[in-house]
Amino acid sequence: MRSVAPGRVNLIGDHTDYTGGLALPMAIDLVTTVEGARGGDVVRLVSAEAEGEARLSLDLDDPAAAAPAWARYVAGVVAVLRPETGFAGQVSTTLPLGAGLSSSAALEVATALALGFGGTATELALACQRAEQLATGVPCGVMDQLVSAGGVAGHALLVDCSTLAVHPVAVPDGVDVVVVFSGERRHLATSAYASRRRQCEAAQAILGPLHHASIEAVEELGDPVLQARARHVVTENDRVRRFVEALGAGDFVACGRLMIASHDSLRHDFEVSTPRLDRLVSELCAVPGVYGARLTGAGFGGCVVALCRPGALAGGWRVRASAGARVLDGEAGPARLS
Ligand code: GLA
Repeated sequence: MRSVAPGRVNLIGDHTDYTGGLALPMAIDLVTTVEGARGGDVVRLVSAEAEGEARLSLDLDDPAAAAPAWARYVAGVVAVLRPETGFAGQVSTTLPLGAGLSSSAALEVATALALGFGGTATELALACQRAEQLATGVPCGVMDQLVSAGGVAGHALLVDCSTLAVHPVAVPDGVDVVVVFSGERRHLATSAYASRRRQCEAAQAILGPLHHASIEAVEELGDPVLQARARHVVTENDRVRRFVEALGAGDFVACGRLMIASHDSLRHDFEVSTPRLDRLVSELCAVPGVYGARLTGAGFGGCVVALCRPGALAGGWRVRASAGARVLDGEAGPARLS
């Protein structure tokens, strides 16, 4: 059997998912494939791109201790799903590893399907979010796994993370979405991500859910750091709404402005950018035909996403909005996926 799960790029709406806010990711045409057969009492995978073998017993108890490093994600899935039968096969990917395009979410989702997961896309995403948290210790949100599991070809997904309701939003043919890797592997991500999340929770303890908070309430917050973090979240949720409207109206100039404002907010209020990401965004925005650019995902390195006129950017990966995870052949797949 063969299962496939895509990576993602987030067009706008970062560091909003874990406070129940809005995000607009799209699944991309770079994918991870798991191929093999069920059987036995261990999960055994080799990777075409990374060293070593993942060899995991079905009753493993600490996914974070698995080796090599990539095997932790597989171990996380085993620990969450607790399959009764093992699996032997290989994993391969067209995604760049550790570049911020959710290669780990794609591996988790493809693995879960290979192990026989049979629920909805949302259930698959929640299981894989838990797997990622167990594997890495990072209290990540659900965005990456949700779009990898439930992506819709030709569309980004407007995700309301307070309900996990998902609305496909068409990505028009008249624009290119281009992803450019900064060359910086994400560092500090573990501790800084957790600390940002804690700061958002501290702001919510005062203001209530940030997805309901007004900007006026945020400006009343006494602590300047909590205020800046909350301001990012509240303004970013608003930018997602306006971006969806602008995209629907074909107003790419407005979309680009919102992306630049999002980057500035992630840089100054949320402090998850780096000098290299800032430089890359400025350079890309200076290219004729580029409407806007921003860091995408967690930040601290990784990738920038740009929206531009078709063909305006020669470098980077021109990505297409793609379908979510699926089982391609072999045994029964996830009957209710999609
Ligand atoms: C990472 C996490 C997501 C989300 C983004 C930031 O990709 O896995 O849940 O929080 O960062 O938007």
